[in-house]
Amino acid sequence: MNKKANIYVDYDEKIGNADNRLFSSFVEHMGRAVYGGIYDPQNALSDENGFRTDVAEYIRELNVKYVRYPGGNFVSGYDWKNGIGKKEDRPLLPDLAWSLMEPNEIGVDEFFAWAEKLGLEPIMAVNLGTGTPQSAFELIQYCNGTQGYWADLRRKNGREKPYGVKYWCLGNEMDGEWQICARTAENYAQIAKMTAKMLKDYDPTIKLIFCGSSSSDMKTFPEWEKTVLYQCYDYVDLVSSHKYFSYDKKSEQAKNEFFGSSNGFDKNIEYLTEIIDEVHKKRLKDFPETKKRNIGIALDEWNIWYYHEGSDLDKVWVVGAAREENVYTARDAVVFASLINSILNHCDSIEIACYAQLVNVIAPILTQTGGKAIKQTIFYPLKYAANNLSGDVYKCKTDCDDFKAGKYGKVPSLSVSFVKNENKAYFWVCNLSEETIDASFIAEENIFFNKAVFMTESDEVNSFENPFNVLPSEAEVKDNKLTLLPRTWYFIEGEVK
Ligand code: AHR
Repeated sequence: MNKKANIYVDYDEKIGNADNRLFSSFVEHMGRAVYGGIYDPQNALSDENGFRTDVAEYIRELNVKYVRYPGGNFVSGYDWKNGIGKKEDRPLLPDLAWSLMEPNEIGVDEFFAWAEKLGLEPIMAVNLGTGTPQSAFELIQYCNGTQGYWADLRRKNGREKPYGVKYWCLGNEMDGEWQICARTAENYAQIAKMTAKMLKDYDPTIKLIFCGSSSSDMKTFPEWEKTVLYQCYDYVDLVSSHKYFSYDKKSEQAKNEFFGSSNGFDKNIEYLTEIIDEVHKKRLKDFPETKKRNIGIALDEWNIWYYHEGSDLDKVWVVGAAREENVYTARDAVVFASLINSILNHCDSIEIACYAQLVNVIAPILTQTGGKAIKQTIFYPLKYAANNLSGDVYKCKTDCDDFKAGKYGKVPSLSVSFVKNENKAYFWVCNLSEETIDASFIAEENIFFNKAVFMTESDEVNSFENPFNVLPSEAEVKDNKLTLLPRTWYFIEGEVK
């Protein structure tokens, strides 16, 4: 017998607003993300600038708002000045982050021109590993300036209008021992604050993203956040948070736990929000004249990541060898979809979320250098989310059962969110349990749910030989009721009459 569950919208609890800034992405100079991914001059499908039109088309389908660039770990050893000007003068240099060579064929101007063509807004990361506040200051002059040497140099390099970059990341994962020139919290707070002051004095319209701990599993968490946010308080707009999930594919138990990932994600986000509140209180107590700032979360790296899967680690000090080219199953897509619920249900504190990454490196799009491009399983939940889930997000309640998810404990079988705008309303639902559930959707009377798109977990993947092996299916919602298959993601659409 099927289980039964009601899913209610709680109209008294509006969480916030959603739009495609929550489905932003990330392109790092890493592996084949840039070289062989978005850029592949030898490919017959590339445009006059060497950028792949097939990949561009897939990215357009994902309706990406912001794209973080150029790293990632890469940025901590990167000198942006090597990537501007005449291509033939640009140096080929080792990148210590990924043991590859960086030809500097793509730099700020090429990347920004590409992004603009696709309607993406770059989030620029500055190097606070080997870099200096001065180099970051020169970069913002180059990107956003109208006068002076750096703005003139940009003009000379072919770009008249300033790029007007709004979001700036002050370094990347600076607490991680793997980071080029990692720092202590005090040390990072000092350089980040100096850089922040220079950037904001120059362009007060920008928003600054300070590094949080690389992950909530780090020993530095949450003391790092407390130190950095407290010391840099007057400059912080956002604090970054990174989170990746995976499981041991040989273990059934681990697989079960994997389906509880969104519960862990929720807790991480809520804990970080508490830490931010704690810092507000301490600052306002210690400095009563302080004006309370609005500090949000930039969840600027999140995904499922099987470390070193799809990596050609024997190939070092070459351009564009494979790094972290994970191939995602339908199971990954279901868990990935449940992580989208965590983001939507915390959109009051998350200002931006970037899934990491966009092409080849732990990405929804995979390419062959010189060959084809395919859409991975996780492409589909992203596509439906980014193109539809915009509007007011309300809390949902359900009377569903729980299932046992290892370290996450007992987790509700249904992970749910609800978004509504003038014309449409959506439930985003994942049945994480092994049970079939007859669900009733209870929202305002003038909303009529009719269409559902779904994908059920399995080991199946899309490949270059079989690119459409895993595709979402369609179901009909009748009288606001739908039978939810075990371990399945659903996008449910309704008309607001
Ligand atoms: O997204 C891949 C890597 O993961 C990034 O370079 C780094 O910031 C994180 O550890």
